[in-house]
Amino acid sequence: MTQFYFRLAIATLAVVVTLQSTANAQGETPAPYDCANISLEGHTYNISAFKANTYTIKGEVREEHPNKIRVDYELNPCQAIAFPEGEAKSHCKAGTWVCQDTKLVRDEGEPITVTLRPIARDVAPTVVRAEKIEDVKELPWNLTLRGGNIDGQNQSATITFICDMAVTDETVGPTLTKYENGVVYFSWKSGHACPQQIQVPTTEGMGGFRTFLTVLSIFALIYLIAGAAYNHKVYGATGVDMIPHVDFWRDFPNLVVDVVRHVWDSVTGRFTSSRGYVSV
Ligand SMILES: *[C@@H]1O[C@H](CO)[C@@H](O)[C@H](O)[C@H]1NC(C)=O
Ligand SMILES: *[C@@H]1O[C@H](CO)[C@@H](O)[C@H](O)[C@H]1NC(C)=O
Ligand SMILES: *[C@@H]1O[C@H](CO)[C@@H](O)[C@H](O)[C@H]1NC(C)=O
Ligand SMILES: *[C@@H]1O[C@H](CO)[C@@H](O)[C@H](O)[C@H]1NC(C)=O
Repeated sequence: MTQFYFRLAIATLAVVVTLQSTANAQGETPAPYDCANISLEGHTYNISAFKANTYTIKGEVREEHPNKIRVDYELNPCQAIAFPEGEAKSHCKAGTWVCQDTKLVRDEGEPITVTLRPIARDVAPTVVRAEKIEDVKELPWNLTLRGGNIDGQNQSATITFICDMAVTDETVGPTLTKYENGVVYFSWKSGHACPQQIQVPTTEGMGGFRTFLTVLSIFALIYLIAGAAYNHKVYGATGVDMIPHVDFWRDFPNLVVDVVRHVWDSVTGRFTSSRGYVSV
């Protein structure tokens, strides 16, 4: 019989440990990028309203003797830029999220594209909290898209999203700040950049259930160790008798069976006359 309780204790411990490690594993797996559900420091952002559009941001015209050059960008913060079939020649290659379009500005006629180079491609974007901006209540956040390479230099695009409830039109795109050392910076004011909901912050990303399990196992461990030490010291108990309240725990399975049977009986409407229940 002692063997049985020992096995029961081990089995219970095994279940707790398994549940704990499963919870851990779930917490550590990074979710794939979903622009409708971006998590940052307990806030959730949903910029999926931008998904259907391709944003074109025009650069400043600058002199590059004897020519005039303008560097434009095309981007989508949710997925690779989609373009109609047959237009491949006027876009970066398929799979590009941010495209650098260098144009030659002519005195007459439309500017013509000289080079099309990918700044960001299908690489998992990253999100970080950005510095506070004066007069803006909500903290901005930076989305960084990467994966491009120009002449051996890695390229990326950092978009600073600024919450502005006054901008509800999702066709309003970002503005170009600068291009420096392979990084192109944009800032994007929009109501869609505002946080969706305030989540209750949990300690270090611990779910409520995980915290509960951790606390429970710690208490169980303290109870076991302290109880065993007490029984050993005060009563000189050894072996199984060291387990605190060993008689109660010996009876525990029977108790559980009793409770389950009792609940089952009341649910199924059965009654045992010996206990004085009345049929309904
Ligand atoms: C958003 O992502 C979190 C994990 O980052 C996930 O738990 C949650 O279910 C997701 N919500 C939706 C609506 O997809
Ligand atoms: C995100 O916003 C879009 C509309 O802008 C909505 O259709 C979608 O359900 C939202 N998704 C989540 C996960 O909140
Ligand atoms: C966020 O982006 C801005 C540029 O728009 C940059 O100046 C700032 O350093 C970035 N902040 C972080 C924390 O990456
Ligand atoms: C450039 O990007 C690649 C991955 O795309 C990375 O392995 C490499 O370390 C990066 N190089 C520099 C100099 O950042």
